[in-house]
Amino acid sequence: MSWLNKLMVQIMPVIPKSFIRLVSKHYIAGESLEDGIQKVYELNDRGYLATMDVLGESITNKQDTEKPLRLYRELIQEIGKHPGLSTGISVKLTQLGLDIDKEFCWDNFQQIIELSEESDLFVRIDMEDSAVTSDTLDIFERSLGRYANVGIVIQAYLHRSEDDLKRLMGLDANVRLCKGIYREPADIAYQGKEEIRRNFLLLGKMYLDAGIYLAIATHDQFLLDHFRTYIDNKNIASDQYEYQALLGVPIDHILQSFIENGSNVRIYIPFGEDWYAYSSRRLKENPDIAGYVIRDFFKKSDNKL
Ligand code: FDA
Repeated sequence: MSWLNKLMVQIMPVIPKSFIRLVSKHYIAGESLEDGIQKVYELNDRGYLATMDVLGESITNKQDTEKPLRLYRELIQEIGKHPGLSTGISVKLTQLGLDIDKEFCWDNFQQIIELSEESDLFVRIDMEDSAVTSDTLDIFERSLGRYANVGIVIQAYLHRSEDDLKRLMGLDANVRLCKGIYREPADIAYQGKEEIRRNFLLLGKMYLDAGIYLAIATHDQFLLDHFRTYIDNKNIASDQYEYQALLGVPIDHILQSFIENGSNVRIYIPFGEDWYAYSSRRLKENPDIAGYVIRDFFKKSDNKL
């Protein structure tokens, strides 16, 4: 973690919420379902696929899961009304009660996955911090036995990920590979940029070589260049992998070149009222955003998704 990121983590509690709100405008489609759908249409028009996420996480009271469940139901139904839309959905299990009771969460998740299956919609389970990695994988693996429309996320910074990925390989699981966003201790997670990159490459190539579908989720130019060359050299078909990026990260020019090259690129589109935690994480991850936000007062960036 750079000194700027460390500083950002320390001062986050005193950053005014109004500033975080400005940050959120970069990374979030808007507060309403209509804002989210509108953003998917815009990105589909430019050749991107999408995955939609209803913002919210870490619910600690069973009753509070009713709201995200309702919002996901509405989202799935709304997507069903727009047959031309190319999108899946992404879900955080702590939003459905994983921190409270795993069986309760499983029941909630089943409601989402069943409704999605009826609409032929793919559901990706996001990966959260290491306190819930095992439970998240358990729920995913349980759902794999019953539903075909489900995928998971593996974080390259965790030491355990190689073993997890090998097991998932045996299950033919659809995996999104990312670096990992949460702060994790050195006894369970790689800390240095180079070692995380090395593990990302190791895991990604292992999965691609096995011929199992992989979503490569990174904005790191080094990794993107490396995977592009690897995929070209090995003649890996475009229905075996996709690239993924977060809404608002300024790498449109690279992603457009991937699309022109015949690759699929999916954008993660969060929307909803609970923008604070997600936007704070983006700010900690990349303090440069503070600069983008200030710059945006004066002009628009042309390279933004
Ligand atoms: P890195 O952080 O090194 O960034 C590479 C470059 O990209 C930076 O130098 C910067 O220029 C630019 N950049 C990166 N982030 C930026 C930002 N927010 N704003 C502006 N520029 C930025 N994590 C997790 O733990 N669980 C999950 O389920 C997911 N899901 C997920 C889905 C998708 C589609 C993506 C792309 C990412 C995730 N992540 C995630 C987040 C992931 O773990 C990681 O934290 C971020 O992608 C940042 O890491 P990079 O690989 O982009 O590299």
